[in-house]
Amino acid sequence: MSLPYTAPWLLAPMEGVTEPLFRGMVLGLHSPAELGGACTEFVRVSSAPLPRRVLRAHLGAQGPIPVALQLMGSDLQHLATTAARAVEVGAPVLDLNFGCPAKGALRGCAGSALMDDPERLRELVAATCEAADGRVPVTAKLRAGGDDDSRLEELVDAACTGGAALVTMHARTRAEAYSVDADWERLRRAADAARAHGVPVCGNGGVDRHADLEALRRETGCAYAMVGRGALADPWIFSGHEASGAEAAGFLLAYGRGLEAQGASTRGAAARVKQLLGHWRVGGLVPDEEARRSWLRERDPEALFARLEACVPQGARGSD
Ligand SMILES: Cc1cc2nc3c(=O)[nH]c(=O)nc-3n(C[C@H](O)[C@H](O)[C@H](O)COP(=O)(O)O)c2cc1C
Repeated sequence: MSLPYTAPWLLAPMEGVTEPLFRGMVLGLHSPAELGGACTEFVRVSSAPLPRRVLRAHLGAQGPIPVALQLMGSDLQHLATTAARAVEVGAPVLDLNFGCPAKGALRGCAGSALMDDPERLRELVAATCEAADGRVPVTAKLRAGGDDDSRLEELVDAACTGGAALVTMHARTRAEAYSVDADWERLRRAADAARAHGVPVCGNGGVDRHADLEALRRETGCAYAMVGRGALADPWIFSGHEASGAEAAGFLLAYGRGLEAQGASTRGAAARVKQLLGHWRVGGLVPDEEARRSWLRERDPEALFARLEACVPQGARGSD
């Protein structure tokens, strides 16, 4: 089934980060030719199917760049019922998470626990495809394996025979978590394995700069490239625009103030801004690790926002 993505570059799902506000801000910086699609953070399906209002809240409004809804679960029936509801509330793509290494996911035999059980993974993809009933594509996001990458091809085969329209491969195993450099050779293996099924692969892991996007496709044969933390370091990464200090600080301020407008406390909003500053690279705000530490040490949330405001020319401040 054809995918609605408008370009071969996708923003990765990131729990606690790619909620509708941050995601919408990144999408707003790009045209559909620069950024082809995004994804919600994972939505956990555990003891019961999820209500439509929860799915709607995660999905937010759809604009010109499609946003997939990501589900994570291990109960076939609950997952299928939730998938059918997700289609009803307007998800243009259903993505299944088989990569989450969190203990909760592993205990529930969901997320990356499925890296040890390709047959179950196939059943989950198939049940979701059946529930989607050809109305929207179902995609699967995998890691390169559990303890090692020896079953990579088997996992890709399972996702493809289950009916996935796209397989996203995060180039690290569950055991490696985020600790090692992404091994793009694994992306090439995934692309080769999926080609036999006529299924495209989205390579993920280690895209830090704009130029890495095309390099990943060129070097691995993947049809798509997905960016996670690279977009936290540089929300403009898909266009290659080099943000000025004012643009960079303006983005962080708008994010923090936007969170407050949604009901977050100033402290909570500042903590989320700091989470971005932990990765941030553009606009000269974080020239070195000492500067990063200085941002992250800032305990007074208003002082943090005042420091950011000082980087934005007066006329350009949204609230002035
Ligand atoms: C803070 C954070 C939250 C994440 N949450 C999710 C998630 O909800 N679903 C998912 O499939 N992957 C999640 N991931 C994994 C990313 O989507 C991506 O696969 C990973 O970060 C590797 O890509 P990168 O090297 O470009 O960051 C998360 C990663 C981070 C850093």
